[in-house]
Amino acid sequence: MFAFLAFGGLTASRWSAFPLGGFYPFASLSKYCVGKTLVNFRKCHFSLFAGHSVIGFPMSTMNAGSPRVAVVTGANKGIGYAIVKQLANPNLGLTVVLTSRDEERGKQAVAALAAEGLDVLYHQLDITKESSIDTLADWLKDRFQGLDILVNNAGMAYRGDAFSYEVARDTVGCNYFGTLHVIEKLSPLLREGARIVNVSSRAGKFSRLSPKLREAMFRRDLTIPELSALMNDFIQSVKEGNWEQKGWPKQTYAVSKMGVTIMTRILAREEKRPNILYNACCPGYVRTDMTNPSAPLSPEQGAKTPVYLALLPEGGASGGFFADGRQWNIMEDL
Ligand SMILES: NC(=O)c1ccc[n+]([C@@H]2O[C@H](COP(=O)([O-])OP(=O)(O)OC[C@H]3O[C@@H](n4cnc5c(N)ncnc54)[C@H](OP(=O)(O)O)[C@@H]3O)[C@@H](O)[C@H]2O)c1
Repeated sequence: MFAFLAFGGLTASRWSAFPLGGFYPFASLSKYCVGKTLVNFRKCHFSLFAGHSVIGFPMSTMNAGSPRVAVVTGANKGIGYAIVKQLANPNLGLTVVLTSRDEERGKQAVAALAAEGLDVLYHQLDITKESSIDTLADWLKDRFQGLDILVNNAGMAYRGDAFSYEVARDTVGCNYFGTLHVIEKLSPLLREGARIVNVSSRAGKFSRLSPKLREAMFRRDLTIPELSALMNDFIQSVKEGNWEQKGWPKQTYAVSKMGVTIMTRILAREEKRPNILYNACCPGYVRTDMTNPSAPLSPEQGAKTPVYLALLPEGGASGGFFADGRQWNIMEDL
């Protein structure tokens, strides 16, 4: 079933193929390497992807006197848990909030990290429930007066080749609309220098759309309401059984992730505040409950790209899609 999630030939070794100067959009990396000011570009690059980097931010993006706060959604297990673990590296100096829809599973995850010496806060978050998002937003506002990193990792996929109105509604509802609602509600809290990372997927291949739908998705002036209308059109077309005539593929997960990728591009374009960067990524084909034990990457390896994007320094890419160690041109590569 997860054939559509399989990214042929994706292996850990390909991570060594990051093109210098391409994936790292800053001219003088050394100034961002806290405690390693004399480390050169290549060494810092390596240390990031070895998972024990101390990449920092230029002083101008740090909030003097208040902690830099990172929130990760769907983090009780899988890639989200690995993202929290890497962001909780004490060298980064971040206050990391692990969120999960199930409080008990989330608190168990926090306890497991504490047992490894990592200090992480917990808050409940179901991305499909407005009241749950509101409660998190209020808590962040009261406790931290802002937010610096938001990793939208929470996502779901039905098993097998399930395809029905309910499957489309739930999958697009969670992966696209849930992610969008979290960003919309937390957006007022974003501080200068904030990074928003949306964990999308290469399974969201635009080549699976009809030329007309592709053109609609890639329109440079497409707005979020128009994109949401396209997502709703997909759900409705599955309900009416005319999805094929309308040019949609028979893949609800793929469509939901196309929405996440394009949403990221639009939000980046529309953001007017300084130095707030939005990027989407594919973690690769990772061994989690969503896939299967034969997937080539560990959750720790899958967390590398989201963590890299969460720590992008000033001047970094925005609106991009990253996977397999490079930025992709979604119109040609997906
Ligand atoms: N694994 C891969 O190969 C792969 C490839 C491409 C993209 N991705 C994406 O990577 C992300 C993480 O997936 P994973 O592989 O780590 O899968 P996973 O192990 O199944 O983890 C998914 C996480 O999302 C949470 N979640 C689901 N619905 C939620 C909701 N409504 N509100 C809040 N949290 C919710 C789950 O919580 P529960 O434990 O409560 O269910 C779980 O914590 C997803 O967005 C997925 O689409 C994964």
